[in-house]
Amino acid sequence: MIKVGIVGGTGYTGVELLRLLAQHPQAEVAVITSRSEAGVAVADMYPNLRGHYDGLAFSVPDSKALAACDVVFFATPHGVAHALAGELLAAGTKVIDLSADFRLQDANEWGKWYGQPHGAPELLKDAVYGLPEVNREKIRQARLIAVPGCYPTATQLGLLPLLEAGLADPSRLIADCKSGVSGAGRGAAVGSLFCEAGESMKAYAVKGHRHLPEISQGLRQAAGKEIGLTFVPHLTPMIRGIHATLYATVADTSVDLQALFEKRYGNEPFVDVMPAGSHPETRSVRGANVCRIAVHRPQGGDLVVVLSVIDNLVKGASGQAVQNLNILFGLDERMGLSHAGLLP
Ligand SMILES: NC(=O)c1ccc[n+]([C@@H]2O[C@H](COP(=O)([O-])OP(=O)(O)OC[C@H]3O[C@@H](n4cnc5c(N)ncnc54)[C@H](OP(=O)(O)O)[C@@H]3O)[C@@H](O)[C@H]2O)c1
Repeated sequence: MIKVGIVGGTGYTGVELLRLLAQHPQAEVAVITSRSEAGVAVADMYPNLRGHYDGLAFSVPDSKALAACDVVFFATPHGVAHALAGELLAAGTKVIDLSADFRLQDANEWGKWYGQPHGAPELLKDAVYGLPEVNREKIRQARLIAVPGCYPTATQLGLLPLLEAGLADPSRLIADCKSGVSGAGRGAAVGSLFCEAGESMKAYAVKGHRHLPEISQGLRQAAGKEIGLTFVPHLTPMIRGIHATLYATVADTSVDLQALFEKRYGNEPFVDVMPAGSHPETRSVRGANVCRIAVHRPQGGDLVVVLSVIDNLVKGASGQAVQNLNILFGLDERMGLSHAGLLP
């Protein structure tokens, strides 16, 4: 059994990790931290987990207890993994970080977007960006994984086939993305209140969102050159889900895009390319570790529209983190992750 620690067990990605790991035949959660709920039994706080984690209670983060685990997930705000990861790695514990701490390869760029200096630039050389559809072989050898963000997962998986094939004009990419409210985490905030977010929809961070440099970094690598991306996130009145509507122009309209996407993701267990003409729905991936994609070229023009949906807490966070765990430990990548989405 793989002994697992989770730092930040009371947040939405933390409890989603618990839900997924409850079904995992090779992982056992030994330590789960919360500073505010220390001493509270996991099942008392989250009754959906009753019967799955008897005897497990939240505890304050303790680096000795965490270092006794084979792997530690960080489901914490940015900056926490910077402070603790080095000590765990030195003890031989692998780290899978769901926060943004190790996603950007450039520490200065990270500091610019997160408003504080990078707390562990010396670890960046060890960090592998945990998008299995791009970095599977590197993940196998890694000891520090930076799990991609939710918008970056949906956007990159939607645009990669076009950029890798050199088909899209990389200078004019548009990602028009909608997220459910759980994307903002469990912390109390006025913007996440029912009466603020319900029955309404709005764009935010149009002039620059923290996920922009992360998405740009991945797309630049795929294109092999500089890219120009306009990324506009929106908040929508749903709990889970991301819907990315992606636009790119192509110079060659004779290429069969459906075949291109089907070939690119043909061997990927968690990317589903739908039949031509489809419109994927966020509810079809709710609770599932799946990115569901459809590719369109309206009226046969040179503008390609890719629709990409994920559950922000699963393929956009905790499910992708478990997928990385499976790859890191040489397990079947689908272990504990093969369930279908919740519909209706
Ligand atoms: N929500 C999403 O859809 C999503 C998707 C992808 C990635 N992410 C990223 O995943 C991370 C967690 O997100 P979330 O939505 O689960 O957040 P959240 O709901 O706000 O939960 C944060 C957790 O971290 C703990 N925590 C906070 N400050 C801490 C500190 N200084 N030291 C140790 N523990 C601390 C909190 O517990 P205590 O305060 O009790 O210790 C809580 O359990 C974030 O970096 C987020 O950007 C989130």
